[in-house]
Amino acid sequence: GTTLGASAAESGRYFGTAVAANKLSDSTYVGILNREFTMVTAENEMKIDATEPNQGQFSYGNADRIVSHAKGQGMRVRGHTLAWHSQQPGWMQNMSGSALRSAMLNHVTQVATHYKGQLYSWDVVNEAFADGSSGARRDSNLQRTGNDWIEAAFRAARSADPDTKLCYNDYNTDDWGQAKTQAVYNMVRDFKSRGVPIDCVGFQSHFNSGSPYPSSYRTTLSSFAALGVDVQITELDIAGASGTTYGNVTKDCLAVARCNGITVWGIRDSDSWRSGDSPLLFDGSGNKKAAYTSVLNALNGG
Ligand code: G3I
Repeated sequence: GTTLGASAAESGRYFGTAVAANKLSDSTYVGILNREFTMVTAENEMKIDATEPNQGQFSYGNADRIVSHAKGQGMRVRGHTLAWHSQQPGWMQNMSGSALRSAMLNHVTQVATHYKGQLYSWDVVNEAFADGSSGARRDSNLQRTGNDWIEAAFRAARSADPDTKLCYNDYNTDDWGQAKTQAVYNMVRDFKSRGVPIDCVGFQSHFNSGSPYPSSYRTTLSSFAALGVDVQITELDIAGASGTTYGNVTKDCLAVARCNGITVWGIRDSDSWRSGDSPLLFDGSGNKKAAYTSVLNALNGG
């Protein structure tokens, strides 16, 4: 293939990017988006603060613009994200206990119902585990409602939208030897053994010197897949955009049958949440970088 999306499709995979609604009027941005990508994630527009800014008042304008653009181009959409400790609206940040649990479940139900049947997958729960060596859950107002909040969110999402893949999504879960990776693995294994509805695990894959691409990455992807879930690379960016590393990440996904696809976290370096690291596949002017060619060649078996 001659584009990322067409090349990924040759093995039945997708190649996606994060999209910001306010850039859909930028013709350079949209030109690359429409040419190269077959999957879209809303960078911020489906998060809790965007979709339920006031309790019980739902707001889908920017998210729907992204979904509509994607559909018009024959692209699919990964939903991101229904339950997260971050980017909660003020009203939710101040809640706790059973009131918060009900509000969280209502949010999951309402938003998953709004998009019922329209999305490829949902990141039902994002970033629920702590960094470091504890392997513990991250402390948050959601966690303090009870350890079963994650499975409750997955069950609510399944009830609302039975045909969309339901994912757990996190970062620093790439190195098989890390406690956080093992803790997520144990949760997924437990969910599968008890019939909690989970279909996929997202590996954000924000790599930099502090969290480098690990040599065990392929082992991690294949080990999770062996539990009976799909795996997806959901927010890939690499500080400095080493072509070798981008190529290796791509080959690791291709080597795992249940790795459905790769999403990069933005189009041009200037679109990145950490633009100072120049971590993406296109420069600020929209030119293809060396890392682009490495990914394309890897997708084409090179
Ligand atoms: O839209 C407001 C704008 O109205 C306001 O004037 C401005 C002033 O701060 O803020 C704007 O909101 C910002 C938003 O991005 C949109 O640009 C927020 O402050 C800023 O915090 C937010 O950052 C996002 C970040 O998540 C928040 O957690 C990044 O764009 C987004 O790339 C990033 O994405 C996350 C994934 O969801 C989860 N994994 C990690 C990843 C990177 O942090």
